[in-house]
Amino acid sequence: MVYMPVDGKPDRVHIGARKLDLDTWIEISDSYEEEIALKHHLVETKCDEVFLHLPLGDAGSREVLDMLIEHLERVFPDRWPNPISVDSSMHPLLAASLLVQEDLCVMTQVGQEWVLSAASVCFPSRWDPRDKIGKSLLGIHDPVPHYEEKIGVATQNIFDKLTVDRPISRVNWTVMDSKDLHQPVAVRDPDAIAVNSENISDTLYFRRERQTLRKLPLSGDILFTIRTYTDSFGDVEKMFPDFRRNIGTTIAGASPQTVDYKGWVKILNDIQAWSQA
Ligand code: HEM
Repeated sequence: MVYMPVDGKPDRVHIGARKLDLDTWIEISDSYEEEIALKHHLVETKCDEVFLHLPLGDAGSREVLDMLIEHLERVFPDRWPNPISVDSSMHPLLAASLLVQEDLCVMTQVGQEWVLSAASVCFPSRWDPRDKIGKSLLGIHDPVPHYEEKIGVATQNIFDKLTVDRPISRVNWTVMDSKDLHQPVAVRDPDAIAVNSENISDTLYFRRERQTLRKLPLSGDILFTIRTYTDSFGDVEKMFPDFRRNIGTTIAGASPQTVDYKGWVKILNDIQAWSQA
């Protein structure tokens, strides 16, 4: 799927939640085999970095696996013409996450808080799942500038009020100098960025996360899915000619804290030059 969350308006932290049509919950693309193979490789080589779980999340995780299998068999009968079977010795959330390109996170309510109780995240956007397991929404988003002041309460409300029949989706985006899907390191060495306004089309990547939230009927937990797409600036411009102009004005409107958090300090001027060329 091709998402274009940048429209030229100044960048700001916002929720942007939309009603999700459940038939479009999971997205399968041409890179399915490649991304599932990458997930298997990461699970085999660094499972303790990409898969975290607390006993608190076990019931929700089992529910996710059942729900996902039912969905895949029904919505993608060509890909799954026979009943799906998974390794029953594997944790259900890990087994579920190896069926789809999405990363999967289970949130469980503890008192007033929603806590990350299980996470299979092979494709994080410069965060480490090990730092987030067991944390509340506010704790998870602690490094995000303006999160608490601008959308902290509204996000908590979305979780408190989410119902089984009204799932939602939203799209997040950033700009990176790498196309790697697996990006667990928070800050890259800015001096290692080899970008200039001449080579930006091939060296910068527009990364989008299509996220969904679904309330699980049995456990009462919430499943958060993250589907990551990344394309070079040049490829994005071919699909969306306005992108070149819009990315400059949108990023120019980002706060200094956001520019710093997203690692854009070194590339900001080059992006502006490219955008105005
Ligand atoms: C409606 C729900 C949510 C909203 C509105 C929201 C919003 C945001 C925003 C604005 C950012 C900044 C990233 C950017 O702009 O590129 C962010 C980052 C992040 N979000 Fe969420 N988020 C939501 C749900 C969740 C959930 C359920 C998790 C659970 C794993 C989560 C995990 C994260 C993480 C790990 C980061 C990166 C934090 C870091 O840099 O350490 N988010 N989120």
